[in-house]
Order: sequence, then C-alpha cells, then structure tokens
Amino acid sequence: MLKTLNIGIAGYKFMGRAHSNAWLKAPLFFDVAAKPVLKAACGRHEPSLKKFAERWGWQETETDWKKLISRADIDVIDIALPQHLHFEIAIAAAKEGKHIFCEKPLALSVKQAEEMLRVCEDNRVVHYLNHNYRRVPAIALAKKMIDDGLLGRLFHWRAAYQQDWIVDPEFPLTWQLQKETAQAGPQWDLNSHCVDLAHYLIGPVASVMGMCTNFIIERPLANETSTGNLQAEAKGSERGPVTVEDATLMMVQFKNGVMGSFEATRFATGRKNKLSFEIYGSKGSITFDLERMNELMFFSAEDTNTAQGFRKIMVTESEHPYVKSWWPPGHIIGYEHSFIHAVVDFIDAVENNKPISPNFSDGLAAMKVLEAGLQSAETKQQITLNS
Ligand SMILES: NC(=O)c1ccc[n+]([C@@H]2O[C@H](COP(=O)([O-])OP(=O)(O)OC[C@H]3O[C@@H](n4cnc5c(N)ncnc54)[C@H](O)[C@@H]3O)[C@@H](O)[C@H]2O)c1
Repeated sequence: MLKTLNIGIAGYKFMGRAHSNAWLKAPLFFDVAAKPVLKAACGRHEPSLKKFAERWGWQETETDWKKLISRADIDVIDIALPQHLHFEIAIAAAKEGKHIFCEKPLALSVKQAEEMLRVCEDNRVVHYLNHNYRRVPAIALAKKMIDDGLLGRLFHWRAAYQQDWIVDPEFPLTWQLQKETAQAGPQWDLNSHCVDLAHYLIGPVASVMGMCTNFIIERPLANETSTGNLQAEAKGSERGPVTVEDATLMMVQFKNGVMGSFEATRFATGRKNKLSFEIYGSKGSITFDLERMNELMFFSAEDTNTAQGFRKIMVTESEHPYVKSWWPPGHIIGYEHSFIHAVVDFIDAVENNKPISPNFSDGLAAMKVLEAGLQSAETKQQITLNS
C-alpha cells in the first residue's frame, strides 16, 4: 500500500486553490512515493473556509494556524498566505518538525529569510519555496539546453514580468499594495520569480542597479473580505496611500559576467500575466513567454546560415521534462501543471530524503537581489552583493 503524507494548508484563495488542485492531481498522474492526504485547511472566516474545505476535500478545518501546525497528524505545512505571514508560520512549523511547502516571495526581508533558513536547517525539515515556473517544462528544457552547452558562453539575460490588473485607479488597496503585508510591489511579487529563474538559468547576481516608480498614489480602501486580485472590492469612498512601488527596473551583472535586466509592472495594459525572458549566448539564444508556455524559441548559430532563424520547439514530447505523465505530443498543458510538478518533486524530497530547489536558501539569495534593487533605487547607487 502506498504511504501517505498528511498535508495542512493555511490560506484558501488563489494559491490555496492552486495547491489543493496540485495535491489532488499529483498521485493521479505521477508515480509518487506517498499519497498526499488533504488533512486540514486553515483560514480566518469559518463559513468560507468550510465551503472551501468541502469543495476540495480537505477533511477538517482550523481557524488558528497555531493549532494547525501543532497537530501531531500533520506532516507538511503548506503556506498559501500573503508574505507577511510566511516568517512566523514557517519558523513555528519547522520547530514542530513539519516539512514546509511555502509560497513565494519567501519573506519580507533578507533578515527574516536568513532566520527561516537557519531554523529549517536546525530542525532538519524539507523546505521548498514555490517558484513554480522552474517546473514549466519549457523552462526546465531551457535549463537543460544551457547546461548541455547549446548556447555556448552566455552574454545576456533580459526578463520582463508584465501584468495590468491595477491600471484602474479605482482598483482597491488590497494586501499586495501595502508595505505591511507585501513589503514591496512587483519587485517582491513578480521580480522574485524572475530573479529565481535567473539564478536557475544563468547563475548568481554580483551587482544591482534599481529604479522604481508609482503611477497611482492613493486608492479606495478594500473591503475586509477582499483577497488579492481575485475578489477585490472597495469598502466605500474612503481612500488610503499605496505604500509599495507600482513598477520596477533592475540592471544587473552576474558573477559569470553575463549582463542582465529585469522589468516588472502591473501597469502594462493588455499584458495579463506575461513573464518573458531572453538569453543570448555565443552559440545560440533562447526566448520564452509564459503566455505561450508550451513553446520555447531557440536559435542556433550552428545551423547553416541560409537556414538560420528562431525555431519553435513545442515542449510536449514525452522526452521533455515532466511531459510523459501527461498527454500525447501537442496536447498542451497549463499554469496549474507547474504546481503539480512542484508537489510531485516535493513529495519525492520528503519521502526519499532528497534535496529540492528552489528552497529557502534560494529564496534568501533572491531576497538579497530584490532588497538590493530597492535600496539602489532609493540611494541611486549601484550595489555589490556579498555572495
Ligand atoms: N507561485 C505563484 O505563481 C503565485 C501566484 C500568486 C500568489 N502567490 C503568492 O502566494 C501567496 C498568497 O497569495 P494569493 O494570491 O493566494 O492571495 P489571496 O489574497 O488570494 O489569498 C490569501 C489567503 O490568505 C488569507 N489571509 C490573509 N491574511 C490572513 C491572516 N492575517 N491570517 C490568516 N489568513 C489570512 C486570506 O483569507 C486568503 O485565504 C502570496 O505570498 C503570493 O505572493 C504565488
């Protein structure tokens, strides 16, 4: 009989749903080392929590996360909450010996991230940080192609993460637009993903120059039941200040000499969730766009020059990363599959005592770059990172 792994989740909206789906689907499509059991879900508003639990099959509910993490029948704490709650819950969960599946960005600061990593290591728990895009098959393929030398020596990294969900000045002041809950705007929310991908695909960042701006400085206060960008409603006519940046740019130098740029905004009208990157090397180049996530564009300078050009690789062959558990070639997959892949690898790490990335150490590394970006924007100075 397959072993079981008992999961307790905190948070039940956007990420709560994406994670629940992943825990449920993983054993249906992959040969997992243990079957996740949706043991208990935690949230503050009991009626909506109960509805969520019933719909997704969570066996029980808790309205206090402290109770959730102290339960002896739970092996894994899944943190699907805004980032101001990650620190306290992850530390407490690690001290209880629970393995942790945590949403990004890791924390509010480098200082918090260091402490989270230290406590997880001291308590020997598996710590995973959900930069799920590493597990988009096309991105995992890009990593393999770079490692196999198909791009040769790398010269350039160029990333842009563009959304448009706060262009309307009447969009309310949800938790993502306030420093106490989010710490920063797209620098934390979006660039955290791109910095993680850059660390994965290119290597560590050595120095950073940043720039930020705000387009709308006040918004209507949000209704208390507003959650993130899914169900945002204004409370009334009262307004409050936006306390995080609206858009951010970073120029970086990587330790291996690659030059890079990062652009992140929620004001790119018409761009819904466009995470794109370009990598240029001596032998070839790669481009990716999340809005066409089953495709990877590849240019090989080694093709005969009369036939050269960017070719589109449909990343749907069974030899491509993660694909063989899904559908026949050309039968594309979506956003939610990256979460399922993350859960599959996480279960493997827990059950077979294997390392997993990204983890809190990767989260700390990203946080150093992100924090330096904001500091540089403020001081107008280039910042060199100490490893
Ligand atoms: N990996 C990704 O692609 C991805 C995408 C979106 C969000 N995220 C991250 O996931 C985390 C959650 O974001 P989301 O979009 O699911 O947010 P959300 O607003 O949709 O959901 C947040 C949940 O947290 C609960 N919550 C808020 N404050 C709380 C408190 N003080 N105590 C207990 N519960 C509280 C809310 O009730 C809700 O259930 C964030 O850190 C975000 O950056 C990751």
